[in-house]
This record gives sequence, structure tokens and C-alpha cells, in this order.
Amino acid sequence: MWTEIAEKIAAKTLAAIRRNGDAIPYIADDAGRFDDMTDKNISWWTNGFWAGELMQAYTVSGAEELKNAARSIEAKLDRALMDAMGMDHDSGFKWLPTAGADYALTGDPASLNRLLLAASNLAGRFNPRGNFIRAWNDRDGEKAGLAIIDCLMNLPLLYKASEITCDPRFSQIAALHARTAAEHFQRPDGSAEHIVLFDPETGERTGALGGQGMAQGSSWTRGQAWALYGFTLSHRHTGDPLFLDRAEKSAAYFTAHIPASGLVPADFRQDPDCGFEDDSAAAIAACGLLELAERTGKSAYADTARRLLTALLENRCDLTPDTDSMISHCTVAFHDSRHNHPLVYADYFFTEAVTRLAGKGVFIW
Ligand code: GLY
Repeated sequence: MWTEIAEKIAAKTLAAIRRNGDAIPYIADDAGRFDDMTDKNISWWTNGFWAGELMQAYTVSGAEELKNAARSIEAKLDRALMDAMGMDHDSGFKWLPTAGADYALTGDPASLNRLLLAASNLAGRFNPRGNFIRAWNDRDGEKAGLAIIDCLMNLPLLYKASEITCDPRFSQIAALHARTAAEHFQRPDGSAEHIVLFDPETGERTGALGGQGMAQGSSWTRGQAWALYGFTLSHRHTGDPLFLDRAEKSAAYFTAHIPASGLVPADFRQDPDCGFEDDSAAAIAACGLLELAERTGKSAYADTARRLLTALLENRCDLTPDTDSMISHCTVAFHDSRHNHPLVYADYFFTEAVTRLAGKGVFIW
């Protein structure tokens, strides 16, 4: 079954690039037609996902057009590498699905160069007082103490840089940030804060914000999924049992809150009748659970991943080649005016999970 779906995804992505060339999609309209971020914001955090999806699809069909379009997007992101204020903590999201996938599949030295430049910049965001990686930029210091749960997913760029260069500094920084997330982001019930505030001079934790979730103290589902997958990846790269413990706590929390439908809301603490859904959280969690199943040997994690993916497949998935987007009901932030729409990263993580279950794909994290 998963092989057949992976093949349909590969055919759909091929049809999309034949329509749209090397556009860099973020969001789709109601007709499932992607936009293009190339000239809107080349530094946007999601700009690597479509190329990553094309590379995953390439491992399924072998169609050179997929790889070539992905590499063209990777080259376009060089403009982002030269935009200092656009270089935020999301370098992992931007360069692992692009340069990372390319380097893993082709060994291209240009991709390696991009990976190391991006990793060096990310390492430079580390604050040794609070042991955290600063999330976003400004020039008045207002954001100097902000760190967010999503950053766990950017750490594999640092782990990879250490593997490539045999220089432990990158992975030491990544592990210190992950320890900070374990101490200051994960709550006792296994849920996670989205944004944590630190005093950038002393490193003291000064508060937390609800961020893209419903409210402070709520449970933004994509953040829970980033925690689940992110802690699992830090365990993969370090073997530190603290990170496995935190990954399993995140997984237990997430699993206990999945509704009977298998479709995940935008915030686990929203009113059950609210109707805001975030399929991207489901797809990310499925990827994290598949990795966690492999790390622990516990098949229940993989069963939950398949349950999430099947719910998406049966209710929220357009595999026809006539539309660009695949997964339909996502939410960027709880208080946005638009909900339940396609997002490129939901499609990416759905593709990553499906290709993995089909025994294909390239592991980028
Ligand atoms: N990294 C931002 C988000 O998950 O929306």
C-alpha cells in the first residue's frame, strides 16, 4: 500500500514541477494551486520543504526532472545565505531538505559548502549564558532572548556538521540547546511550550509565550510534534538517554490526545467544537513516531504513526496530478484568520513518512 502511495506522490510532484517549474511553494489557494516565495521572501523558513519533497519523490521514481528542480531551488536559496538578517534559527529547515538531501544523494561539493555555511551561522546564534539558540533577529535586542521549540528540528544541521568536519563544537552546541529544551520547554505532563524567554545577559528563564498556539499554557499541536521528533533526533545523534526519555514523554502526551478521528486539531486544548485542524502536526508526529519506533524497538509507535497517516490519506489527501497541493487541512497559527488549508510542510512530512514506510526516501535529519 505505501509503495503505491509513494508512486502516486512521485507522479503528482512531477506534474506540479511541469506546471510550475522551480517555484518555491509555501501555501496553496482553495483550488490547490501553490504560490511562489522566490521573489516574496527568499529567506522564509519553509523554503526548503518543496525541494525536499522532490528529492524524496526522486528516490521513488528516479525521474531526473525531480532532482533537477530540487537542485535549482537549492541554488536559488544561495540568496538567503547572503541575507544576514534573514539567517534565523531555521537554517536546518531551509538547508537540510535542500543541500542536505542533495549531498546525501549525490555528494555534490556545492551542497556540502552550503551545509557548512548554514551550520556555522546557526552555531553563531548560540547564547552560552542560557545555553539556547536564539530564534529570530532584530537590531534592538528585543528578540535576543527568544528561543522556540521548533528549533529542535534545526539541530540535526549542527550534528551533521560535526560528523562531516570531525569538529565536536557544532554537536556540543546542539546538545546543549536540546538539554535547555528538556529543562525549560517540556512541561511535567509531557506537553511543550512554544516560546521561552531568557534574559540574554544572564541566561535566566524569564517566562513563556503561547506563540502560534491558542494561549499561554495551551498546547499548540505542531509544537508538540516538533518536540516529539526533535528530541528523538537529538537521541539519534547523541545517544543521550535524557533525549529518549523526553521523546517518549512527548510521544505519550501526543498519542493520548489524538482524537478518535485520527485528525489532529490546531491546539490540543482548543474547544472540541472549534474545528481548527493542523494536518501538518499529524504528519510531523508520524515521522517522529516512525523514528522513535526504530530507536526503541517499540512497534506501538509505528502503529500510531500509521493511524495518523491513514486518517490523512482517507480524509485529507489529494493524490491527483491536477492539483499542486496534497494535504488539505492545516493551520499556521491558531489566531490566524485562515484555517484548514494546504501548507507545503504538511506535504513534505507526509511524503517523508510514506516514502520511509515504502522502504524508499532519503533521511535528511
Ligand atoms: N516553525 C514555525 C512553525 O512551525 O510554524
